[in-house]
This record gives sequence, structure tokens and C-alpha cells, in this order.
Amino acid sequence: MKVSFKVNGKPATVDVAADMPLLWILRDVLDLKGTKYGCGIAQCGACTVHVKGVATKSCQLPASRLAGADVTTIEGLTPDGGHALQQAWIEYDVPQCGYCQAGQLMSAAALLSRKPKPTDADIDTAMNGNLCRCGTYNRIRSAIHRAAGNTTTDAAPAGRSGE
Ligand code: FES
Ligand code: FES
Repeated sequence: MKVSFKVNGKPATVDVAADMPLLWILRDVLDLKGTKYGCGIAQCGACTVHVKGVATKSCQLPASRLAGADVTTIEGLTPDGGHALQQAWIEYDVPQCGYCQAGQLMSAAALLSRKPKPTDADIDTAMNGNLCRCGTYNRIRSAIHRAAGNTTTDAAPAGRSGE
């Protein structure tokens, strides 16, 4: 089937099987490889993108439900990597292997756009669907607080030794 939608602000039309997940349309058809495959069954969050600003697991969204969707991937989060979260990720040295991190950033960005000053509980709830087998969760939480400008919680870089 042919389906038209928007990716990172630009129109895209693809001709794919109706059940092809957005994840594979992004990676294999549109060559946007920043979005990762982890599990394919909505359990890991590696494939998270935004659809109309909402964090969405792209492995679960088939082409048949994509018409007119407004999709943002990690490549489109900012033109230059300058999002406050991306800066905080660098400052706090968040990634270890890095595989999960595009999905983590997209979930965190969706959180901050609807809740600019999240609490620990807000962060834990919003990030619950994003697994990291390297265990970077503490640094992720600290970096989200940093990007949010939160000063009431411990936002000091945690380093890797305490995890
Ligand atoms: S690949 Fe989509 S949630 Fe794991
Ligand atoms: S940084 Fe390795 S899986 Fe998260």
C-alpha cells in the first residue's frame, strides 16, 4: 500500500506492506537508522519516536495506521543536537553502549514537552517503558532533571561507579 505521512517535518510517501511497522519503514525505507530495534513486541522502548508529540513505540505502528501521521525521530529532535536533553546527556555522560539511548531521549523529550518540571515519580512513570541493559537509569534521571532546570533534586553527575 502507499501511505503518506510526515517525518521530521517533511512529507514522505512509501509503498510498503500494510503490516510493515513504522520502525522498519524508518530504518529500511527512509534510511533513518537512529531509531533502534530491540524486541519488536513493545517491551523495550528502543524504537520510541514521537507521533504528534507523543512517545510511541514504532515497532507497534503498522503502515495501515500511518496515513497523515506527524512523526519525529531522534534525527529530527533538533537540527543540531542542541536539545537541552541532548546537552545534559553529554554533560552527564549518560550512554554506555548507547543502543537504547535514542529511545530514552525521545521518551524524555515527550515528557518534558508536557511536564517541563518533572518529579522523580513523573520521570520513573514516563521512562518506565524504556529498558537499558547497561543500567544507566540513574544518570538518565539526573540528566532529565538537569535539562528541566530542576535544582531541588540531586542533579549532580553521578558518574559510573555508583551504579
Ligand atoms: S523494539 Fe519496539 S519496544 Fe522494543
Ligand atoms: S546504554 Fe546500553 S542498553 Fe542502554
